[in-house]
Amino acid sequence: MFGPIVHALGARPNFVKAAPVIGALAGVEQAVVHTGQHYDERMSEIFFRELGLPEPDVNLGVGSGSHAAQTAALMPRLEQEFLARSPGLIVVYGDVNSTIAAALVAAKLHIPVAHVEAGLRSFDMTMPEEVNRRLTDQLSDLCFVTSPEAVGHLAREGVPVDRVHFVGNPMIDTLLRNLDRFDTAAVRAAYDLPERYVLATMHRPANVDDPDVAGVLVRRLHEVADLTDLVIPLHPRGREVLLAAGLADHPRVRPLEPLGYLEFIAAVRGAAATVTDSGGLQEETTILGVPCLTVRPNTERPITITHGTNRLVTFDELVPAARKALQADPSSHRTPPLWDGQAGPRIAQVIKEWMP
Ligand code: UD1
Repeated sequence: MFGPIVHALGARPNFVKAAPVIGALAGVEQAVVHTGQHYDERMSEIFFRELGLPEPDVNLGVGSGSHAAQTAALMPRLEQEFLARSPGLIVVYGDVNSTIAAALVAAKLHIPVAHVEAGLRSFDMTMPEEVNRRLTDQLSDLCFVTSPEAVGHLAREGVPVDRVHFVGNPMIDTLLRNLDRFDTAAVRAAYDLPERYVLATMHRPANVDDPDVAGVLVRRLHEVADLTDLVIPLHPRGREVLLAAGLADHPRVRPLEPLGYLEFIAAVRGAAATVTDSGGLQEETTILGVPCLTVRPNTERPITITHGTNRLVTFDELVPAARKALQADPSSHRTPPLWDGQAGPRIAQVIKEWMP
């Protein structure tokens, strides 16, 4: 008998990607294992409530730690969980530590793995996410691809072509499904936001872990705030370092707590431009048509540059690029192929056909 489909989720972006997949698999026996990598109300529970995700069947409560400590702590807990549930398939999402931990445990137990958002590559092995996504793809029986170039990346790494399915982007399913619920006026009122603002998010280790680097970044963000107000919901990673570097010491910088999904996208939609190092926001701004300046040397999501509003900038390029983005007419952009809100149903279809 084919066991349940178990979704292993751990961090904020996983929740946004999983919602449409779990929804589209309604009628099939499923379970949700939350690793507990993200545990704050505003990093986790609020996403389950807002996106109508089922309550996790179990929360493994792994919490924070170094990469090795977090990944290692997860593995025996996941092993116990998977042994007890005898899943027919484990579904993992994105590139976080929970993703690789679950894929590795499943592969060793000979449980098939499906990877949603397979094949993205920054070609930058200093990013923990790049390590996680490369290895997860090697361990996966079904690779669900969001962007056409990922098919080539997987082929070059020897992933058999019959494992690879180009299905579109489930994160965009969630965005399109909730378009009527993003209330920019309500967010403006709730947080007393100005009419015109730049929305920033910063949490990548390369930008926020080293106080000297964060200090330079904060100076640049202050210069952006000289142009227009800057609103920055603070991810727990980097919060203290950025505040210690003086982030809040500018009259037009507005640090906020992490926002839930609906408020966050509403705030993005109302922004004149965004400044970020997030992966997901590069995709969301592509659909919303909001200029996106990504403060990174590379991106695993080049389609957001070729089709969308994204542009990579160095610290030194940030302020001139922000000035230009603020002066320009709304950027022209195209919708990447299959970012049409139907990725969840396509994934469900492939899984159902694959099931014995
Ligand atoms: C993780 C992912 C990253 C993703 C991000 C989205 C990895 C390697 N990285 O990074 O790809 O873009 O999630 O949010 O998996 N913390 C809290 N409360 C929480 C969660 C985290 O305070 O609910 C703190 C932790 O104590 C830690 C820091 O945030 O100090 C980092 O958390 P961690 O989950 O290790 O990685 P992220 O930086 O969130």
